[in-house]
Amino acid sequence: MVTVHEQYEAYPYPERDPADEAKRLITGSPSHPLEMDHFLWGGCRDWSQPLRLLVAGGGTGDGLIQLAQVMKSAGKPCEITYVDLSTASRAVAEARAKARGLDTITFHSGSLLDAANYGQFDYIDCCGVLHHLPEPAEGFAALRAALAPGGGLGFMVYAPYGRSGVYPLQEAFGALFDGLPPQERLTKAREIVASLPAGHPFAANTNLTDHQQSDAGFYDLLLHGQDRAYDVPDLLEVMAQTGWRLQSFATPALYDLSRITTRPEGMDDAQAMATAEKLRGTIKMHVVYAVPSEDDRKIAKGSNRALIPHLRGVAAGPLAQAVAKGKPLPLTLSGTKTTLTLPKDCAPLIAAIDGRRSLGQIATATGLDPLSFGTRWAKIERELADWGMLLFSTLGR
Ligand SMILES: C[S@@+](CC[C@H](N)C(=O)[O-])C[C@H]1O[C@@H](n2cnc3c(N)ncnc32)[C@H](O)[C@@H]1O
Repeated sequence: MVTVHEQYEAYPYPERDPADEAKRLITGSPSHPLEMDHFLWGGCRDWSQPLRLLVAGGGTGDGLIQLAQVMKSAGKPCEITYVDLSTASRAVAEARAKARGLDTITFHSGSLLDAANYGQFDYIDCCGVLHHLPEPAEGFAALRAALAPGGGLGFMVYAPYGRSGVYPLQEAFGALFDGLPPQERLTKAREIVASLPAGHPFAANTNLTDHQQSDAGFYDLLLHGQDRAYDVPDLLEVMAQTGWRLQSFATPALYDLSRITTRPEGMDDAQAMATAEKLRGTIKMHVVYAVPSEDDRKIAKGSNRALIPHLRGVAAGPLAQAVAKGKPLPLTLSGTKTTLTLPKDCAPLIAAIDGRRSLGQIATATGLDPLSFGTRWAKIERELADWGMLLFSTLGR
């Protein structure tokens, strides 16, 4: 068997070229500071206080570089600890940080199971790692032990339905290629995958593209020796067992049953989210913000008019123009296609979002009375925030 460590030494994932840092910044979820503030700190973190960050299983550095660069660009203090088993992945992450002149990161080669030995952290990023541990619960518990009071965790684990077809192939390849080195496995598996019939569950699964993008992507998806997926009930269970509570999915609308069909009366939240996952059918990963079980903090809501809204993935001007013309706004996320619709009178509020004005200031700028503002803002928030396109944060202040 190729161990997880050996795999990521042979195929650091995702495949990245440090020279590309000059051209673009990769951003995403979890672990964008705006998103962290929105879900974990009520949208009003005091960013003058240094943020202690752990990137657990940081790989080739996507989450790490995003965190370090966004904090640097915002001029906010932080100390980042990177830990990964793979020295080859670490070398790529270090080169990317160097290319950007990011000097807030300390690199370690080691296991996240020892996370608490590196300190106590206000935020822990663990993207695409826990489902590769022999005992994922041990990983969740180790990260919990490294969390400082008031902190939170952003993580991603695989989800089963959007990955349909993957696990039978992983098992078959595991049985076929036992004892072979990674490169030989890859060559043989590529041949087999190329000749799968169109109706094979993997070939028919259009949600999955990693195997088409790079050798590392193919290996990670189909030749992994240690990989499991979590449906919503399994996820809630492992979190509860290890001292975590689901604060929110990064895009709660995906799990909102009432956006798909009528939610039966009396159905609890956990069952409703589990049912939504089954009905969506295309969710291939869960992106989650978690807090300690006993912590009852709330996510940011616009009922607090001191909060500062930010748009993500769309610029205020073009969005406001489209809304003003009554245009429907198509959105595709995790294989789900939806259309956002906002009344035309929401356009001036959207146009006033600039990442610096508070909601109170936007209300004043638009000259609306509190009732009219509140009605319009509630529609904007419901449409945009739950799809991850609107976040509250004081980061830009
Ligand atoms: C799929 S990659 C994800 C990398 C990165 N977090 C990202 O999202 O791009 C998984 C990473 O987890 C690392 N890893 C696996 N088990 C680990 C452990 N016990 N401790 C630290 N890193 C681990 C691997 O070496 C690999 O770099």
